[in-house]
Amino acid sequence: MESKDWWKKSVVYQIYPKSFNDSNGDGIGDIQGIIEKLDYLKKLGVDVIWLSPVYDSPQDDNGYDIRDYYAIFEQYGTMSDFDELLTEMHKRGLKLVMDLVVNHTSDEHAWFVESRSSKDNPYRDYYFWRDAAETNNWGSIFGGPAWEKDEETGQYYLHLFSKKQPDLNWDNSAVREDVYKMMRFWLDKGIDGFRMDVINFISKNAAFPDGPVAEGDQYGDAGSDFCNGPHIHDYLHEMNQAVTSRYDVMTVGEMPGASTEDAVKYTDPDRQEVDMIFTFEHMNLDCHGDNKWDLKPLYLPDLKANFAEWQSALDEKGWNSLYWNNHDQPRIVSRFGNDSEAYRVLSAKMLATCLHFMKGTPYIYQGEEIGMTNIRFEDLNDYRDIELLNMYRDNKALGWSHERLMEAIYTKGRDNARTPYQWDDSANAGFTSGEPWLRVNPNYQTLNCKQALADPDSVFYYYQKLIALRKEKEIMTTGRFALLLPDDETIFAYERVTANEKLVVLCNFSDKEQQYQPEMVTAGTLLMHNLPAPEIGILRPYEAVVYEIQQ
Ligand code: GLC
Ligand code: CA
Repeated sequence: MESKDWWKKSVVYQIYPKSFNDSNGDGIGDIQGIIEKLDYLKKLGVDVIWLSPVYDSPQDDNGYDIRDYYAIFEQYGTMSDFDELLTEMHKRGLKLVMDLVVNHTSDEHAWFVESRSSKDNPYRDYYFWRDAAETNNWGSIFGGPAWEKDEETGQYYLHLFSKKQPDLNWDNSAVREDVYKMMRFWLDKGIDGFRMDVINFISKNAAFPDGPVAEGDQYGDAGSDFCNGPHIHDYLHEMNQAVTSRYDVMTVGEMPGASTEDAVKYTDPDRQEVDMIFTFEHMNLDCHGDNKWDLKPLYLPDLKANFAEWQSALDEKGWNSLYWNNHDQPRIVSRFGNDSEAYRVLSAKMLATCLHFMKGTPYIYQGEEIGMTNIRFEDLNDYRDIELLNMYRDNKALGWSHERLMEAIYTKGRDNARTPYQWDDSANAGFTSGEPWLRVNPNYQTLNCKQALADPDSVFYYYQKLIALRKEKEIMTTGRFALLLPDDETIFAYERVTANEKLVVLCNFSDKEQQYQPEMVTAGTLLMHNLPAPEIGILRPYEAVVYEIQQ
């Protein structure tokens, strides 16, 4: 492994700044709040921090709508706070990965303000402007049509997300140059990489053909007219050559709708695009199609087959990122585990085991390492997320009942991940001395970081051990993955294999005792387990075991 591949041995921790730690009592997390917690993250043992956007923004989508790429959002702090954060991280041997949101800007970004002002403005072509007849039938991912009429010139602009997030026109080389320049600004400060927001959406078919409309749908499916679009590989290669390959950094592209075939192309080092991508496929197994709100229960063999496909597709060329959680997904312990009092801690550890022994770079989302759970706020006014609020409005109009809508929100709403970090059992979970921007999960009095640090059996120390093991055991980075028991409906089992060794991982995803063939592990020694004294051949509810076998 080349030294430039440090990210293959790293564990990444994601911070969603608004909800992490508020240092000045205004109810909003901030950069000084992050600095206060760096020793905590060091104790956990992670190597890299991915920071969700801290740039200047009107916060229509919590910072994924950027007004100025060169400034820090006032309520998070100043550029000198940012510089201090970077210095303090590097002092501790932590690397910093920034969010790069360049599929779109805020409508308040200077480029868009110029662009909308007249048809012959030099920035007009930074975005997609069309007459009514030239627009198409795409819908916005946050509800409503993807085209918005602008009174100034009477033309429409494209926004795949909210109206306040107009899409940049990457076919314009001036846009690309401006983005590369901005990336160099941050890299020259010494940051260690980028997580690239919906980066496989940047190349559109500028003819904007209508997409086929599925039954019961209002809008056309865009297919590859924006997802993995016509010039996507050219643009990513160009970005790599012009910018990222010139620094010792890691890059991870968020890529909804990328298949394993696409992923190999994006991450094959010979093609020089990005180091790894975030797949969405395993996150779409508990809904119908790709409509996340249309719920269905997870069928475990589907999840196993999906991981197995990604693990083997990227085994030789390319690299996987491994995640259960981020700021867009519900909490994993409530989703694929069991967040009841009896099983929360146990199932959180089981899920961690299942993910962290796979091949790839693991990502931990803030609060996952203490087993934070979903929320059920009965009053819609307690929610803040634009996607969830728009979904309620639009699906209500389509006839969904209030009960069905709320159940979808409890199960899939993004605010599940965004409630303030639970530091201790004091007011507002120790997140803020003021009024938090989003309500704290009411379970903070028993579920919090202080409690986890005081309990040697906590989820925290389990993650700490998994992270440390990855440093110790080369096989966790390099071993080939092979799925075992593909059809079993409750046990997720696999092995990691090298020439002289293997690891066998067995995870019980159910609340019932399960049995497996003792021969699967008899020659091995126990490496990791989430319950005392495991018995070979039996998995208690949510039990996870890992055996190491010399061969
Ligand atoms: C990505 C982000 C999400 C955001 C969207 C638009 O999916 O992770 O939070 O809303 O892109 O930027
Ligand atoms: Ca604050």
